[in-house]
Amino acid sequence: MSRSAHPAGPRHADVMTEGHYSAPAADLNVLDEKVWARTVTRDADGALTVGGIAVARLAEEFGTPAYFLDESDFRARCRAWADAFGPDADVFYAGKAFLSRAVVRWLQEEGLNLDVCSGGELTTALDAGMPAERIAFHGNNKTVAEIERAVEVGVGRIVLDSFQEIVRVAHIARSHGVRQRVQIRVTVGVEAHTHEFIATAHEDQKFGIALADGQAAEAVRRTLALDSLELIGIHSHIGSQIFDMAGFEVSARRVVQLLAEVRDEHGVELPEIDLGGGLGIAYTSEDDPREPHDIAKALSDIVTRECESAKLRTPRISVEPGRAIVGPTAFTLYEVGTIKPLEGLRTYVSVDGGMSDNIRTALYDAEYSVALVSRTSEAEPMLVRVVGKHCESGDIVVKDAFLPADLAPGDLIAVPATGAYCRSMASNYNHALRPPVVAVRDGEARVIVRRETEEDLLRLDVG
Ligand code: LLP
Repeated sequence: MSRSAHPAGPRHADVMTEGHYSAPAADLNVLDEKVWARTVTRDADGALTVGGIAVARLAEEFGTPAYFLDESDFRARCRAWADAFGPDADVFYAGKAFLSRAVVRWLQEEGLNLDVCSGGELTTALDAGMPAERIAFHGNNKTVAEIERAVEVGVGRIVLDSFQEIVRVAHIARSHGVRQRVQIRVTVGVEAHTHEFIATAHEDQKFGIALADGQAAEAVRRTLALDSLELIGIHSHIGSQIFDMAGFEVSARRVVQLLAEVRDEHGVELPEIDLGGGLGIAYTSEDDPREPHDIAKALSDIVTRECESAKLRTPRISVEPGRAIVGPTAFTLYEVGTIKPLEGLRTYVSVDGGMSDNIRTALYDAEYSVALVSRTSEAEPMLVRVVGKHCESGDIVVKDAFLPADLAPGDLIAVPATGAYCRSMASNYNHALRPPVVAVRDGEARVIVRRETEEDLLRLDVG
């Protein structure tokens, strides 16, 4: 969800007033580097290139729709997070944003750890060689089979999400004769300023154990009493696409308070805290994300300060960015099909994908940018809505944007910042074939997740 995503927001109001709109400020041919992957630029002919390869060539070789991921940008973001947090902290990439074997290998090479939240993600991670001790296992309803697998392979930590799970994990660890390292996920009671469906630290939701009314303290009590569990710390994740550090500060403060209470009651100083993910990225020019360095400094300052005042040793901090690493590194390339001008309203531009490759607009009212990328154009800007090919009027990819008025069928347009939660939330609605993810680096492009085929669809249909 972009900060500018709300229909009542200023950008929307400026754009749409009873069918009249103000012209966009920027030259449509200029790519705002905030929303595009780092190696994206236009070549001498005006075509967009990524990793040195022009989109026309990419479209020809890999087809559309397709996600193109700038591998060197991904790696640079991993390094920026690792460097910002330094050797006394751990960065766990949140695999739910986008996970594939290639991604797991890049993470290992760049020194990151991995947060998984399902058996499928765990399998992908292990298959690509991620050492189990560098994996954190999450989820509000891990199945017994998933917990057994996680314990068997020796994941570095299981993040306990409920009272029942404390008992479940303890029992499984005992039956495997191991002492499982665990954290307890607490809900700190912070209302993150984001869409309701992606805010996770207020109390009325399904994740974690509330700090309020002593629930989390009770969870610590029960966990410490079980020999087969080694409680290494407290976990908090307050939501997603957050720009304001205030929520993280409150969260860190409350988690440190719990550590102090645990020390007072049990004489134990828990060695770690995990502050989750959720840092926002730029989907449009109006979003201003923070740099990892600023984030790391803000978080470690607050934890250090709170620990000093509680006379606690500063715990090791971990964080779990997903979107902030992979989100900006990819764009979705579409071919323009039908163009339908609606007099006095806007022009509907239909592309060869839609809500099956990007559900975020329909689900969260998310806002995206779009650009004509197969060429430049000096034509006037026209107000468009980019829509997909699905049988549903909510099948919107970009709600309000400007594209040149000479846009024509066959042009290529691209939606930036689709690296996170687009391929990972893609569906086969209308029996759409999920698009490939193509990694581009230094003049080379290779498929890391292939396009689905009609045979893939039929293979599952065994009736
Ligand atoms: N850690 C935990 C425990 C999480 O639940 C999540 C995201 C993350 C880390 C990573 O959050 P990130 O840095 O990527 O924001 N589908 C939604 C986002 C759901 C996020 C769920 N949990 C979207 O498309 O916006």
